[in-house]
Amino acid sequence: MASSSSTLRQVPVPLSDTASIEHARTIVGIDEFDRVLGGGLVRGSLVLIGGEPGIGKSTLLLQAAGSLSEAGRTVLYVCGEESPEQIGMRARRLGIEGKGISMLSEVDVAHVEATVRELRPDLLVIDSIQTVYDPDLAGAVGSVGQVRAATSRLMRLAKDAGITTMIVGHVTKDGAIAGPRVLEHMVDAVLYFEGDRDHAFRVVRSVKNRFGSSSEIGIFEMSESGLRGVSNPSELLLGERGVPASGSAVMAAMEGSRPLLLEVQALVTPSYLQVPRRLATGIDASRLLQVIGVLERRADVSFAGFDVYVSVAGGVRVSEPAVDVPLALALVSARKDIPLSAEIVAFGEIGLTGKVRPVAHAEGRLREAARQGLTRAVAVLPSSVGVVKGIAQVQVTDVSGLVAMVSARS
Ligand code: TYD
Ligand code: MG
Repeated sequence: MASSSSTLRQVPVPLSDTASIEHARTIVGIDEFDRVLGGGLVRGSLVLIGGEPGIGKSTLLLQAAGSLSEAGRTVLYVCGEESPEQIGMRARRLGIEGKGISMLSEVDVAHVEATVRELRPDLLVIDSIQTVYDPDLAGAVGSVGQVRAATSRLMRLAKDAGITTMIVGHVTKDGAIAGPRVLEHMVDAVLYFEGDRDHAFRVVRSVKNRFGSSSEIGIFEMSESGLRGVSNPSELLLGERGVPASGSAVMAAMEGSRPLLLEVQALVTPSYLQVPRRLATGIDASRLLQVIGVLERRADVSFAGFDVYVSVAGGVRVSEPAVDVPLALALVSARKDIPLSAEIVAFGEIGLTGKVRPVAHAEGRLREAARQGLTRAVAVLPSSVGVVKGIAQVQVTDVSGLVAMVSARS
């Protein structure tokens, strides 16, 4: 009797033998991109690149295609969003010669599949997944069902033909309904673009990576000639700071394996609303509420009757608990209208009791702060942390200490 299964039966492999399988990686040749990918593209992997429209997804993938083609690799760029002419124009502007890059204006995933099997490119780019559809399936182009079905076909293609694939997915500001989020579990790696279209600064963050660390970021600047890797992001991010103003605090954050200095800003202003506003951009809203709560209860700083806005300059997102101390400093500084000294850097978690807790990677954070010319660190350091030249620790162990420090204008 014929087997009803459509695929070959797999043979078990001893676990001890699997270690020798090294993932073959292709270096794209764009440092910040290779870094966030975990050291280049893994052959036969499917990478999803999400982000708001206009943030730079197509630009990055076109530059990646350009870099790979210069290294003699072939790329098939499926464009459902823009015409090949439009992309060609952009490529010329970016100085991409385009030898080895083929453009395919196609929305039917079955046709894409056929072309890929014929050409067998080193890299397949789908820009975007919302524009391709599976003809075997009912449902509008861009619907959740269609986007899922197309992705799963591309995933199979990537695996059994060994085609490295990158797909673009649009995310809307309010969190994307039919967007990339529904695809996260299907693909090998997920990268999201962060940043503000009105600023040049762009962070490409890895949120999932089956072949590497999922906490890496790549840092870029959008320029006239496309995305440029930023080698000293702290300098760029702090560059916009002028004369010390109240409500501004510098944080030494850790992004993946690297420290990064950011400016946390707070604005505290009398409210005309029955329920005052608490608005956070780039910081988790619940963190803001908690830090406000702790300041009110443990340090007698009241925000009643005030609207509170906080944000991270440059459109960066911070999700680590170490933001608590700089956030508290910015809030108290704004509430009391007392600027902090420009030499201060801060990091640390604040517990519900009001105590400041140490956070990991203190030494790396201190070094980065010293490198940028900051001289005093508000942080609780574990005894294992050595002295970092050029920077002195300001011993503040709880929120009352933070408030006293701001009030003393020290
Ligand atoms: P794009 O890559 O088309 O965004 P996405 O694919 O995520 O929708 O980026 C478009 C924006 O980038 C657009 O506002 C113009 C800007 N841009 C530059 O500033 N410099 C450049 O060299 C390029 C190609 C784009
Ligand atoms: Mg695009």
